[in-house]
Amino acid sequence: MTLAAPQTSTNTPLIELKGVSKTFPVRQGLLQRVRAHVHAVSDISLQIYSGESVGLVGESGSGKSTLGRLAMRLLDPSSGTVHFEGTDVTNLHGSGLRTMRAGVQTVFQDPFGAFNPLLPLRTSVSEPLQVHRGLSKGDCLERLRELIPLVGLSLSHLERYPRELSGGQLQRMAIARALAVEPRLLVLDEPISALDVSTQAQVINLLEELQRKLGVAYLLIAHNPALVRHASDRIAVMYLGEVVEIGDAGDVYDHPRHPYTQALLSAVTVPDPDAQRTRQRIILQGDIPNPADPPPGCRFHTRCPYTMDICRIEPPPQYPLANKGAVRCHLHTVGALEGRPVAELGMPTVVTSA
Ligand SMILES: Nc1ncnc2c1ncn2[C@@H]1O[C@H](COP(=O)(O)OP(=O)(O)O)[C@@H](O)[C@H]1O
Ligand code: SF4
Ligand SMILES: [Mg+2]
Repeated sequence: MTLAAPQTSTNTPLIELKGVSKTFPVRQGLLQRVRAHVHAVSDISLQIYSGESVGLVGESGSGKSTLGRLAMRLLDPSSGTVHFEGTDVTNLHGSGLRTMRAGVQTVFQDPFGAFNPLLPLRTSVSEPLQVHRGLSKGDCLERLRELIPLVGLSLSHLERYPRELSGGQLQRMAIARALAVEPRLLVLDEPISALDVSTQAQVINLLEELQRKLGVAYLLIAHNPALVRHASDRIAVMYLGEVVEIGDAGDVYDHPRHPYTQALLSAVTVPDPDAQRTRQRIILQGDIPNPADPPPGCRFHTRCPYTMDICRIEPPPQYPLANKGAVRCHLHTVGALEGRPVAELGMPTVVTSA
């Protein structure tokens, strides 16, 4: 699945994954023999442009974190290539990899696990500045003076220990640490999932504001698509290691082209109570299949309410959309949709009120 180019001043993507796959061995028995391979990410092509925010959504286990780690080169792909600012970084090691990593920083889900509990935050937040930039203590402090107010904290927070801050404050600190070395790309892996609901909105607003001010690009990962809609320019929807739909965020949310996207979004709570009462929710049958043994044909066919015979045999090709996105579903090729929203087929039979 290839991400289409948005309107930007340059056509070279900041980061480009080309046909990237990642499998993990499954070991069993006393001798820990390799019995199977988990297909965590399968043949994904994804481009992120300077200053844009791409939301990556899908159920737990669909391969989002693995894709994020591949983009950061924290994992080696099993096949495919990763380009950063036009340079092939797939096989980089040592100092070349360290230089690339300074341009791609990350924020994880659990802010309490992100900092050494025994160190004051100033020490942890200064670390990337010393490692990647070789800054002196005085220069670090200078940089932190600029940075900490940007994330809505004060310099006194730096003197505290992680346990003395709330989850939201600590996540702001993690964002400050990631931004300290002025990365071009920030991979945010479920950055608000561990926070309470009111704090979630604040951190998302902060991320949007920082992007406007700093022009950093985001890969914003979430299992709940409602959390990232407004902070994403484009959305990629993952299912069982594949990107099944991608496109402009508003269009994907309002007019999903893939049955999985439609089902995922139908489960999202909407702010308007009347709309919430009357909307129909599509309950997918069964669990996400075993990624060590993905179904043949379309990987979603075991749960899709629109499955046709071909879906059980042939993997669907990529169908380009007018919104510059793309979808992988036979409804657009052998079916009659031809790029139109899946809602045009009427609601599937397996539905329930929300
Ligand atoms: N290091 C690993 N070793 C073995 N399997 C892994 C590893 N990392 C992830 N997986 C498997 O790959 C699949 C995708 O995982 P992940 O990328 O964490 O999904 P998500 O972030 O969408 O929840 C899952 O089945 C997971 O168990
Ligand atoms: S290809 Fe077939 S099974 Fe897969 S999403 Fe489309 S209709 Fe459903
Ligand atoms: Mg994950």
